[in-house]
Amino acid sequence: MIQATDYRGHRLSSANQTAVDACNAGVESYIQSRVDAMANLDSAIEADNSFALPKLVKAWMLHASRNTAVANTIQSLVDDVEACIDVSNNRDRDYLAALQYARCGRGIEAATVLEALLDRYPTDLLGHRLVQYELFWNGRASWMREIIERAAPRWSDNVAGYSAFLAARAFSNEEAGCYAEAERYALQAIEIDDASIWGAHTIAHVHLMQGRFDEGATWLENLSGNWAAANQMRHHLWWHLCLFLLERGENHRILELLTTEIRNPDSPLVKAAPDATIDLQNVASILLRLELRGVDVVNQWPIIAEACAGRVHNHTNALGNAHDMMVLAATGQMDQAESLMQSMREYAEIGDGSLRTSYLAAGIATCAAVLAHRRRDYTGVIETLSPVRHDLPLLGGSHAQRDIFYQILIDAAQRLGRAELVLIYLRDIRRIGFDRLAERGLYRDAAGATNLERNIANAAEPSGRDHIEANREEISRDDQ
Ligand SMILES: [Fe+2]
Repeated sequence: MIQATDYRGHRLSSANQTAVDACNAGVESYIQSRVDAMANLDSAIEADNSFALPKLVKAWMLHASRNTAVANTIQSLVDDVEACIDVSNNRDRDYLAALQYARCGRGIEAATVLEALLDRYPTDLLGHRLVQYELFWNGRASWMREIIERAAPRWSDNVAGYSAFLAARAFSNEEAGCYAEAERYALQAIEIDDASIWGAHTIAHVHLMQGRFDEGATWLENLSGNWAAANQMRHHLWWHLCLFLLERGENHRILELLTTEIRNPDSPLVKAAPDATIDLQNVASILLRLELRGVDVVNQWPIIAEACAGRVHNHTNALGNAHDMMVLAATGQMDQAESLMQSMREYAEIGDGSLRTSYLAAGIATCAAVLAHRRRDYTGVIETLSPVRHDLPLLGGSHAQRDIFYQILIDAAQRLGRAELVLIYLRDIRRIGFDRLAERGLYRDAAGATNLERNIANAAEPSGRDHIEANREEISRDDQ
């Protein structure tokens, strides 16, 4: 009998060809954020119920949704996997071990297991996708880049999935501040596959960080016809487009896209998952950005009010809770907002691993600041958010997503007339990797403009590297 493998030659533990074909299709779809991933994995399970991998990938997919509502489903999938896993397949064993860590909040331990797996199997594209997600949601951009760069010499266009690998490599480089490399790899990914959603996404991030707003808008508009097969990532790309439109003052277009592309309540994707974390984050984030630019969005906030009210005890991702708080506070659901604060404090007592740390180090304070900002307690915003601002990467997410918290800080500092704080925060923003601050509306206005670039330049801070990552590198150099 011929040994079944994935598209890159790694052994699969099923002799059922229908199951193997469906599993391979499901894994590739998951890696490339396509909407048919789950259906393919379900077909694989139906064809061979003793095949552990499709159940494992399905459990990882549900874990990646960062929603406690699916915790029981993940648990029953894990029970199933433990009953049928082929213990001689060490890739499956490692996927399971990493998942066991990740689902209880120990994402760093999960990443460590996956890192070792990738050292043995550098072309394991599924492993690359999983470790990237875990490190992304734990704010470890340099580590994310290190792992994929270590594997890169083993990849070429002769390896199946090269475009997806390049796109993942590009995104890791972008978050680590290596914009030229990120753009080059992402363009290569798109050249091979113009539907590469992670390739398009990475370029959008590079354009945003470098302040190339017109170029970014054109880039995404031109590629947007290629995303029909994508999952919620396509909503996120429309959110990215809106960030460019915001800098161009095209607010009406943003409000139109809000309910047609970012989160269309009538779309099958939104109907199937009305509380998808990424969708709620996109909507909350763009509404608050609009509001901070003086746009009246009071009628738009309620569209996700109910969905966020249902997540008060969902502590799978601190960045998600901070966005939930934006919505609860903006829609006047103050009891739920206080419940969210209390529930996070309780989670911080009983939680585990890096997820617990993220709430303790930054999540609770960030949510308190979001609530204080809505209550116009600008001193409270500064007192809670400013001390933890260097730890914001621990919330997870991207520099682009976390920028909203600096926008809140700057707004509060400006309203308090604290010009020195405005400049301090602008230096931070520059150091994180945002260029051309004078062309970013909110920051330009806050700085009172004329001497902004000169002041920032005089600060002489390194640009393009996150503070925490830079410190980490310094520490490891000292250790050698
Ligand atoms: Fe993004």
